[in-house]
Amino acid sequence: MGMIAYPDARATPLPDTGLSVGPLRIPGRAFLAPMSGVTDLGVRRLACRFGASLVVSEMIGSDFLARGDLESKLKAEGSGIGLHVVQIAGRDPLAMAEAARIAEDCGAAMIDINMGCPARKVTGGLAGAQLMRDLPRATALVRATIGAVRVPVTLKMRLGWDETSQNAPELARIAEAEGIAMLTVHGRTRCQFYEGRASWDAIGVVKRAVSLPVVANGDCTSLADAAMMLARSGADAVMIGRAAVGRPWLVGDIAHFLATGVARAEPSLAARKDAALEHYETLLETYGVAHGLRHARKHLAAYAQGLGGSVHPLVRQRLVTSEDPRIVKATLAAIFETDVLREAA
Ligand SMILES: Cc1cc2nc3c(=O)[nH]c(=O)nc-3n(C[C@H](O)[C@H](O)[C@H](O)COP(=O)(O)O)c2cc1C
Repeated sequence: MGMIAYPDARATPLPDTGLSVGPLRIPGRAFLAPMSGVTDLGVRRLACRFGASLVVSEMIGSDFLARGDLESKLKAEGSGIGLHVVQIAGRDPLAMAEAARIAEDCGAAMIDINMGCPARKVTGGLAGAQLMRDLPRATALVRATIGAVRVPVTLKMRLGWDETSQNAPELARIAEAEGIAMLTVHGRTRCQFYEGRASWDAIGVVKRAVSLPVVANGDCTSLADAAMMLARSGADAVMIGRAAVGRPWLVGDIAHFLATGVARAEPSLAARKDAALEHYETLLETYGVAHGLRHARKHLAAYAQGLGGSVHPLVRQRLVTSEDPRIVKATLAAIFETDVLREAA
C-alpha cells in the first residue's frame, strides 16, 4: 500500500534534543507505550509518521515466538517503522534468548523486556511484574536476552510488587550492571494495576539510582502532563499509552512540544480521516479480512469517540458491527466529513 501524503504533513524534523540508547540516536523524547491488542502495526506506523520518537510492539510471549507462532510473528512485524522495538515477555532464559534472536532477525532495532505486566495470566506464569519479586530470575532473563543479540536491550518495569516492596531502584541497578541500555518505569506497583495515580516522583527515585536513560510512564495525557512528568521525575523521555488510543498523532504532538516548546495544531479532519482509513487497511492486510475486521473495532470506536458526541449512535454502531469492509470504510470516511458531523449534531 502506498504512503498517504497528509494535506498537513507534520513530519518536520525536530531540533536534535533526542537521546542515545546504545549506538542508536532517538529523535526526540516522547514514546508510544506497548499495549497488548492495541499497538498493532497500523497504530505504530501512524504514530511514527506523526512524529513519535519511538514505538514499541505489543508484548509477545517468548515461548510462542520461539516456537514460531504465526500470530506472535505478526506482532513482531515492523515494516514501515523507523526504529522498530519488539517487546518480549517470559520466564525461561532460553526462550527469551531465542525470541530475542527471532525479533532481531525480523528487523528489531531494540528488544524490550516486559517486567511490568500485572495480568494474573502473565504473573501467574511468573513473567511480567512477577519478576520484580524474583530478582535472581529477572537477572538471568536479562543476561540471556542481552547475550543473544547485538541490538540494545531495554527493560520496562513498575515501581515494585506492592506498596511495601517498591524495589524498582534495586532492579534498575542490576539491569544497568548487566548491560541494559534504557529503562522505562510505569509509576505504579503491580498491585495497583491501573488504579490511583502514577507517581512521577517515585520514577525520579529510579532515575537517580542509575546513569541510564530512564523513560517515565503512567497518566501522561497532554503536553502539559509531559512537561510536568519530566520535571517531577528528572526522566529523559515520556511514554504515552492509553491517551494515544484513537489519537495516533498525540505522541508526535508531545515530542514536538518537548523539543520546541511550541504546541502544534491538531491534524485536520481530512488528515485524521486519511490516518483512520490507512489504519483500517493495514489491519485488513496484516490479519486478513475476518480477523482484521474484528481487531479493528476497538480502534474504530476510539476514532469515533475522538470526534466527541458528534457521531450519531446509529452511525457509530454500524461502524463497529458491520461485517462488510466497504461499508465500514464508507462509514469511517463519513464520520470525518464535516457535513455529516453537522447533520448529526
Ligand atoms: C490495553 C493495554 C495493554 C497493555 N499492554 C502492555 C504490554 O503489552 N506491555 C507493557 O509493557 N505494558 C502494557 N500496558 C501498559 C502500558 O504500556 C503503560 O505502562 C500503562 O498503560 C500506563 O501508561 P498510560 O497511563 O500512558 O496508559 C498495557 C496497557 C493497556 C491499557
